[in-house]
Parts: sequence; structure tokens; C-alpha cells
Amino acid sequence: MQFIQSTVGRKIIMAVTGLILISFICVHLLGNSSVFFGADGINAYAKHLHDLGPLVWVFRLIMLAVFGIHIIFGIQLTLENRAATPGSYAVKKMARANFASETMIVSGLLLLVFVAYHILHFTMHVTNPEISASHLPVDALNRPDVFSMVVLSFQKFIISLIYVAAMVFLFLHVSHGFQSFIQTFGFNNGSSLPVVEKVSKGVALVLLFGYISIPILIIAGIVKI
Ligand code: HEM
Repeated sequence: MQFIQSTVGRKIIMAVTGLILISFICVHLLGNSSVFFGADGINAYAKHLHDLGPLVWVFRLIMLAVFGIHIIFGIQLTLENRAATPGSYAVKKMARANFASETMIVSGLLLLVFVAYHILHFTMHVTNPEISASHLPVDALNRPDVFSMVVLSFQKFIISLIYVAAMVFLFLHVSHGFQSFIQTFGFNNGSSLPVVEKVSKGVALVLLFGYISIPILIIAGIVKI
């Protein structure tokens, strides 16, 4: 209890849950890249995942808890920091504060909105049911046609725009979040800070270009049905 109430304890919880979320985002990107191998790639991948049955639900519940804890503690830490530094906008007290570090709460909450939309879109098939895998015909091997769902979705300009914008928020959030994780665990001293900053930005850039390549290559007509 004391651990959770201390600022250091909360920062450690933010760092550990953040690392779990970044790991999920990296694995999810690798899985989504199977879209470049056509229906045989992503439909097979999605079927393997769904065949895991109850394990998928165990994983979903764990991830939901991790995501929830990360958000609640993130909001709490932000409110505490703001209360502790009245007029913090006038006096920049953070070392090397930048746009990404000062907008963590905004980029984080926008990502929450995106994830809610994304699950309604691709997992629950609520937002565009007519082009969802549960309404489209199954593929030649009797698998839900996730490939057509993804391609038909991103062929709609507004959907691609939402995803690309969300990936920019993801870039901002990870570019500072990864760096905070390293600092929380004391893996850096003053002189290694520039290296830590570069590594964080590098990880965030790989995620940005990896993810936006999917809607961009689809809208450009390079990946198509
Ligand atoms: C171009 C970008 C993306 C594509 C094409 C994509 C694709 C998908 C697909 C097809 C599913 C449904 C899986 C299924 O139920 O079979 C899914 C689920 C999900 N995605 Fe994404 N995704 C993208 C970006 C992201 C990002 C950036 C995040 C996190 C910030 C994310 C988080 C999730 C989550 C939490 C789920 C629910 C997992 C589940 O159903 O258990 N996705 N995604």
C-alpha cells in the first residue's frame, strides 16, 4: 500500500505497465505486418490467435488491467504534479522538457479514445459492420476475411486519416514514455541522457513508420484485394 502511495512507487508502476504496453504494441505491429503477405498472411495469423480460445480472453483481461492501471496512475501523477507546481506553465522546471514530455496526458487520453474506437472497429465490428470480417464472406480456406476488412477499411480516407493521426500521438507518447521508463529504473546518468533520448525516439519512429505504412500502402493502392 505504501509503495502504491509513494510517488516513486507509482512511477515504477507506470514504467512497468508502460513497458508491457509497448511490448504488446511491438508484437501487434509484427502480427499486423502479415497484411503485406495478403489474405494468406493476416487471415492465417488471425485464425491462429482466435484458435487459442480461452487463452485469448485471459490475455485480454490481463492487458485490460495493465492498460487501466497505466491510465489511472498516469492521471493521478499528472494531477499531483500540477498541484505541486502551481504556475508550472510559467516556469519550466523539467530538465530538457519538450513537446512530447509536456503533452503526455493529452497524447495518452487521445490514445485511449483511439483504442476504444479501434476495438469497436476491428474487434467488435461495430463502426463499419458492412465491411467487417463477420459480415464479409469467409476466404477460400473458410477463415474470417480479416485481410479484406483491413483493406476495405483503409481504402476509406477518413478511417486512414484517423489511424495516421493516432499513430502520431503514439509516436509522441512512446518517444517520451520509453525514456521515462529508462530513467525510472536509473539506467542512465547525466551523460547518457542524449543516448537514452535517441533510443526512445528511434523506438517511437519504428512504431510510427511501421504502423502508418499499412493505411498508406493501402490508400496508395499498393496493397489491395
Ligand atoms: C495500422 C494499424 C493497426 C492495424 C491494421 C490493427 C489491426 C488490428 C486488428 C485486425 C485487430 C482485431 C484482432 C482480432 O480480433 O482478430 C486489432 C485489435 C487490437 N488492436 Fe490493433 N491495429 C493497428 C494499430 C493498433 C495500435 C496502434 C494499438 C495500440 C495503441 C492497437 C491495439 C489493439 C488492441 C488493444 C486490440 C484488441 C486485441 C484483442 O482483440 O484482443 N492496434 N488490431
